[in-house]
Amino acid sequence: MSIRNLLSTLVIAIVATPASGQLPIPKQESAASIAFRNAVVPAPQKPTTPVFKLSHTYPHSIPAKCEECEWLNIPVNFATQFPAGSKKVESPQWHGQHWDEYINAILNYVKEDQDPQLSNEIGWKTTVKGKTRWFNVPWMAYDPTAGREYVHGTTNERTATLGDLVQGSQQGPHVQFFMVGEKESCKTDYPWGFESWSVGYYNEFGGYALGRTIPTSGVPQMGEYLGTSVPAGLPFPTGTVVVKILTSNIPVDCVPFLRGSPEWMVDRHKYTKANGYECDREVQSDHVVQVDVAVVDRRSPTGWVYGTFAYDGNTPGTTFWDHIVPVGLQWGSDPWTFPAVPLSASLPLQQSVINTDSATFQHLGCKDRLAGPVDNQQSSCTSCHASAYAAPKGTPGIMGSNVPPSFGFNGMCQAYSLENAAYFQNQSAPQRFPGGQYGDAFTMDTSLQLEVAFTQYGYYNTDRAPQTCTDPNQITPPRKAAEAAIQKKVSK
Ligand code: HEC
Repeated sequence: MSIRNLLSTLVIAIVATPASGQLPIPKQESAASIAFRNAVVPAPQKPTTPVFKLSHTYPHSIPAKCEECEWLNIPVNFATQFPAGSKKVESPQWHGQHWDEYINAILNYVKEDQDPQLSNEIGWKTTVKGKTRWFNVPWMAYDPTAGREYVHGTTNERTATLGDLVQGSQQGPHVQFFMVGEKESCKTDYPWGFESWSVGYYNEFGGYALGRTIPTSGVPQMGEYLGTSVPAGLPFPTGTVVVKILTSNIPVDCVPFLRGSPEWMVDRHKYTKANGYECDREVQSDHVVQVDVAVVDRRSPTGWVYGTFAYDGNTPGTTFWDHIVPVGLQWGSDPWTFPAVPLSASLPLQQSVINTDSATFQHLGCKDRLAGPVDNQQSSCTSCHASAYAAPKGTPGIMGSNVPPSFGFNGMCQAYSLENAAYFQNQSAPQRFPGGQYGDAFTMDTSLQLEVAFTQYGYYNTDRAPQTCTDPNQITPPRKAAEAAIQKKVSK
């Protein structure tokens, strides 16, 4: 009998005779149990920190109308202008065109009933006026590298990829390398850069869509919208609001305007100056640096409006909310502006509007499209989010292979190209990603968290295991392989 046969006979024997005292053979953990886990590494028995609990009792119905969504009634103008005769195209203005009111109305809704200091002890409250308002995306506690941690439910962001690629440096997608206003000395003192961990919440309108897309079975469901196969709950309904709190481990000494920002404990990667970030985690402190919002507004050409706030300790006020300053709003990627078109045909920006009152934050995205202080400067909110697609048939999405390269490709934002034209395009659900290259990928209606969820489910469904954590700095070898794949595509 070969060893193999011997082993299988033994296994059969064990299965067939569960004698007393024998350990049961572990069963495959169910999709539901993994999907709705709180964290990759559970909280210890006697935690000394707050403990995150996934908010996933999604509503089964929603009101016909969002009464509190006051911004939906603000008369902002989403229309695109084209040059006609002597009439020039004008970029939108922060004041006098209601954009300032629009973002403030969203902020008033988002901060309702939240802790004035957004303190570590209280964190983000899911209940507003006695009712659950805020819900999380499932399946984000499977990936050991970037998956949810147990204190505040944050996940590790992949931010700085493209800048890294363009500069040809050794910087990775999980590590945020610099931040607007960062002192030069910090760039050399912290050679591995800084990590960003963040947590997102959908309101009940968004939560309803999440629950229909990923029901209690934990298995993503498909439905149909306008004759096209899309995730069952999509597109997100009018009334959807998403908020995301971003933290960074950058020391306040490196970015003085962060002084006074809430300090959150986060169970994140251990760090040494010699090796950078490690797979092992430990509870360490972070500062809240940015608050992102996104709302569904059917008047927008993409169906969405994205906005961001940055913490500024220099502004007057006593609460956290007094210190977050709007950076701007964006409702499209300006497909008539370079690099989506050649420079000679480029129109002024029309789908980003920047708060010109704030001198502190000069950090914008590609050609002044909107991006936040910790975001990729070669991208922009809606461009990166417009690339939220999932791979078909329950398989994992691999960016640049079967789903679009959200974090960039060589030459992003550098010159007019088909890839830039596709990346800085506007599409709305159920449209495919432009260009035809990712024709089988289906829309996530701009939700990159849902893309993470579908991809993690894809690993569960195909490999029965998540990708192992090898290097949270993501420099070798996955990073090298990704770079090589991108190079190959560019030179084709
Ligand atoms: C280069 C890519 C990139 C850019 C630029 C970017 N994001 Fe995101 N964003 C992500 C990824 C990836 C996630 C999901 C992963 C996570 O939350 O951990 C995400 C999640 C979010 C979420 C939670 C809901 C969702 O769609 O997944 C919001 C809201 C959001 N971002 C807003 C913004 C805003 C506002 C901006 C611009 C100021 C912005 N983002 C710029 C990559 C990007």
